[in-house]
Amino acid sequence: MKKIFMCLSFAMLAVAFSASAETVHISTPKTSLVLDATKGEQPKFLYYGNSLSTGDLQNIQAAGTPNLNAYPVYGLWPANEAAFAAVHSDGNMTLDMVTDNVSVTKNPDGGETTTITIKDKVYPFTIDLNYRTFPGLDVIETWTEASHNEKGNVKLTRFMSGYLPVRRNDVHVSQLYGTWANEGRVEEAPLPHGVKMIKNKDGARNSHTAHGEVMISLDGKAKENDGRVIGAALCYGGNYKLMFDTDDTDYHHFFAGINEENSSYNLKKGEKFTTPPLALTYSEEGLGGASRNFHKWGREQRLAHGDTPRKILLNSWEGVYFDINEEGMQQMMTDIANMGGELFVMDDGWFGTKYPRNNDSTSLGDWTVDTNKLPGGIQALCNAAKERGIKFGIWIEPEMVNSVSELYEKHPEYVVKAPNREPVLGRGGTQMVLDLANPKVQDIVFNIVDTLLTKYPEIDYIKWDANAPIMNHGSQYQTADNQSHLYIDYHKGFIKALERIRAKYPDVTIQACASGGGRANWGILPYFDEFWVSDNTDALQRIYMQWGTSYFFPAITMASHISASPNHQTNRIVPLKFRTDVAMSGRLGMEIQPKNMTEEEKEQSRKAIADYKSVRDVVQFGDLYRLLSPYDGKGAASLMYVSPDKKDGVFYWWKTEQFVNQQLPRVTMAGLDPNKTYTVTELNRIDNEPLPYEGKSFTGAFLMSNGLEMPLSHNVDWNKRNDYASRVLKLTAK
Ligand code: DGJ
Repeated sequence: MKKIFMCLSFAMLAVAFSASAETVHISTPKTSLVLDATKGEQPKFLYYGNSLSTGDLQNIQAAGTPNLNAYPVYGLWPANEAAFAAVHSDGNMTLDMVTDNVSVTKNPDGGETTTITIKDKVYPFTIDLNYRTFPGLDVIETWTEASHNEKGNVKLTRFMSGYLPVRRNDVHVSQLYGTWANEGRVEEAPLPHGVKMIKNKDGARNSHTAHGEVMISLDGKAKENDGRVIGAALCYGGNYKLMFDTDDTDYHHFFAGINEENSSYNLKKGEKFTTPPLALTYSEEGLGGASRNFHKWGREQRLAHGDTPRKILLNSWEGVYFDINEEGMQQMMTDIANMGGELFVMDDGWFGTKYPRNNDSTSLGDWTVDTNKLPGGIQALCNAAKERGIKFGIWIEPEMVNSVSELYEKHPEYVVKAPNREPVLGRGGTQMVLDLANPKVQDIVFNIVDTLLTKYPEIDYIKWDANAPIMNHGSQYQTADNQSHLYIDYHKGFIKALERIRAKYPDVTIQACASGGGRANWGILPYFDEFWVSDNTDALQRIYMQWGTSYFFPAITMASHISASPNHQTNRIVPLKFRTDVAMSGRLGMEIQPKNMTEEEKEQSRKAIADYKSVRDVVQFGDLYRLLSPYDGKGAASLMYVSPDKKDGVFYWWKTEQFVNQQLPRVTMAGLDPNKTYTVTELNRIDNEPLPYEGKSFTGAFLMSNGLEMPLSHNVDWNKRNDYASRVLKLTAK
């Protein structure tokens, strides 16, 4: 059958055009997604991969395509896994959806959204399949919108954002897993027969354990800088499900979306159910290429202030924990200002009038300053920061309440819990989650931020924490027949509150913290500037966690702090040089009591902060090249960032093991311009003698094929020797 091709780059106007178009080509600079959307037939998936030429596009069907639906729905072929399932108002459990229309909309940013509207053959039930592209970015976002005109409610029982068939061929999946204080660990495995499922059911946070993002390596074990890789990132902050079903066909069937478990949704006539975007990328430059695609798209399209350099801060938590007082805060501000920092953040412990917050068992909900600890209130702290030439930030946990609080005494009806049951209590034995499905709770959450920022417009940064999962699943707000809406409506309410906050306070920096790294996802990052990678600040373990997290998230999102030694989580004794060199590979900060540092250590930090400033733009906006994985167990790990114009680079090398006379691999660099010549300068240097290549110049070609030798230890006085070694090298092209 003759196909009519429409290349979206030619569709310049916001038009709904003739539904006779059949082959839909969604193109990005380097990739193509091709679907068949013949009117009256089920839309089919044809191709996802490198950009197709016009000729290849014309002959794509002849090359062999999966003959699989672009968005399989449940009912007529119930043995197959489906992306979408619903029970009609008359009890019918089947869907039979065919293409009704295709439209292309030019977006204000220059990208395009293609919508394939599919309609049930019998029932007035419609789903829009959306595919969005962005100028200059090799990422396609796909999501769906379901609506109907049936007499009663339609019960949605599955609602995936997207589906992708992946041709079988020793396909490996890399995913992140972990737990509190050990987030973002990488695991890679070939796809098994049957079902591989990655899911979350925390309710409030979703990335402590498994992550809602995967890398799919199409040709065997994943490689860093070559090989075909599909990356998939679900942009959602709530419960998710990523599923690979490997059946008796030639394809693995990949689905990703909101986790439907205990979350069926009663959709009213005329109401729209919108799924979160699933971001897809394809690269032939291996995992690294897919990561770089995600990083660029994330910074340019999803992250709050993705083009603004982040400030270097000191956070009070590991320095003083709940022991907040005015003098102590001022001392910390003086210290960070003297070291060249730009922001001080007062963490937990500053609030509670009737119930002062001295530990984690009271006061959440009562966001009034404790004037016994802070007689001058927040204003005095803002003033103190200003006097020292730095900014002031503050910790809050707005979605939560303790049973020991004035808020709970007045409004026990605001907490998440099933009717007729006692609440289940979390952190501190008293913590509960506020029911953000309830608009009154959304107001409370908005007002917490609004009150602080209206009263103290000098507040520059908010650390927004969330330390409990949804417990005792049920809602005091939702009606009896809509109890299963809670997980989904909680997140809708959360986003609504954030939207209001961002509309009124577009400039404030907000960190997403959730018992550490519980909120590292692209669903919430449009409202947040960064996330706290983990409550574990141990530099050695952070190498592994930040490595994994970098698969999907750029350095600018990763809050990475220098903390005390012995480390408070692992008790490991790590020298300041190594702690700093790891923290410098992300968004640098400190999480330490500077009072306990020696003058020499403070001076070292002052120099390191100045050095970081000289490469901050390269780290925060450059392209990441992972060079030697800590997971390979070679005794060292290494990565680098290169500026988009390839004029500047910064190279990191950390020894991860210490054995006498061990042979470590020599690391070759990547991402540089082979024809440029780069001068090497060591940053955060502690050695008595400079490295042999200090100030010397090498071509990008040499650095990428040969690399530079890293000494196994530091050339320091005998009493300063230890079992760690690390290097940070700045590369500047002439
Ligand atoms: C958990 C966070 O992850 C920590 O960084 C700290 O802010 C504490 N909460 C405060 O209670």
